[in-house]
Amino acid sequence: MEKAIKSKFESVFMSEPLILIAPGRINLIGEHTDYNEGFVLPASIDKHIVFAVAKNNESLLRFVSNDLNDEIELPVDKIEPVEKHWANYLLGVIAQIKKMGKSIAGVDCVFGGNIPLGAGLSSSAALETGFAYALNELFQLGLTKLEIVQLSQKAEHEYAGVKCGIMDQFTSVFGQKDKVIRLDCRSLEYELFPLKLDEFKIILCDTHVKHTLASSEYNTRRHECEEGISILKKHYPSIHSLRDVTLEMLEKHKTEFNPVVFKRCKFVVEENKRLLDACEALARNELNVFGKLMYQTHDGLKNDYEVSCKELDILVDIAKESGIVLGSRMMGGGFGGCTINIVEKDKALAFIEKATKEYKAITGIDMPVYQVSIEQGTNILKI
Ligand code: GLA
Repeated sequence: MEKAIKSKFESVFMSEPLILIAPGRINLIGEHTDYNEGFVLPASIDKHIVFAVAKNNESLLRFVSNDLNDEIELPVDKIEPVEKHWANYLLGVIAQIKKMGKSIAGVDCVFGGNIPLGAGLSSSAALETGFAYALNELFQLGLTKLEIVQLSQKAEHEYAGVKCGIMDQFTSVFGQKDKVIRLDCRSLEYELFPLKLDEFKIILCDTHVKHTLASSEYNTRRHECEEGISILKKHYPSIHSLRDVTLEMLEKHKTEFNPVVFKRCKFVVEENKRLLDACEALARNELNVFGKLMYQTHDGLKNDYEVSCKELDILVDIAKESGIVLGSRMMGGGFGGCTINIVEKDKALAFIEKATKEYKAITGIDMPVYQVSIEQGTNILKI
């Protein structure tokens, strides 16, 4: 794939590009906690976007999406959102770099990859971070890795309209082989945990649906959490986010809450606690305990946070009833995309067969399945 993108670039632009890859991510546990200043436990995976990028002397931005077979050409001094949705991720990055007072000249870029779109594996974050990383190299912008993460997150806010947290972009840049990242989304301190998956496999079952609600409901959840905070702030002026809230505090003021906002806040507070328990289980190598917590996360996302959908629930039910899946839950923002499943190695094939067959029988959908491994974050390739 890397070679194909490189030769495509060479044949279109007749110059020698910089080649780099930016991966997608999984998240083991800790969902919808990042924008509440809580913890997450993601890892970068062996599905990525490849970029071939070089400066041009034409003051033009010329982007080619290899997979979509589409291209766009724009003057570099006129950065604004365009009709082509995919190009906005790249333009959003340039807009942020300019806001930081740095200048970008003409750039040619060809990209393509194997992160399935709309599957909740953060192809958009990979597109942003990979491009930002490339521009940082080409134009010697002197951005730190963390600045690349943060500007990519802002690009998503402003050019894709999703008020995402920091997890996806952070993971795409900071991920490391065979490690999960326990990221404190408040301080941005992180710890790397080796994931000993010797006897287990991480299997992603792709519902193959992406309900259109996803981005509007995502932003609504953010508001609901903020609403909860503004109620509690009256009683506890020092709190800043749901990270500072306990279940006792919530229960004590329950009657002041709209019931929906209450459920949302309760989920986030519980999920933060679950993540910390899950990390302890991981440290003790108790994957069965870890798995139980994953099932609990799914219940919370389904019933309290209400970001699941019927297809995701069907897949988690199949996993649970099979009796061979340690943990299963919807992953990412919700309303479609994948479930993440931890399965004993020698039972993986049996599970995949069963889940594919049952999901098809209920929904009529052919389910893509991805067995992922954990690989290094965004990096430059010498090819
Ligand atoms: C999406 C967002 C992340 C995070 C997850 C939910 O992937 O981009 O920032 O909020 O949803 O955990």
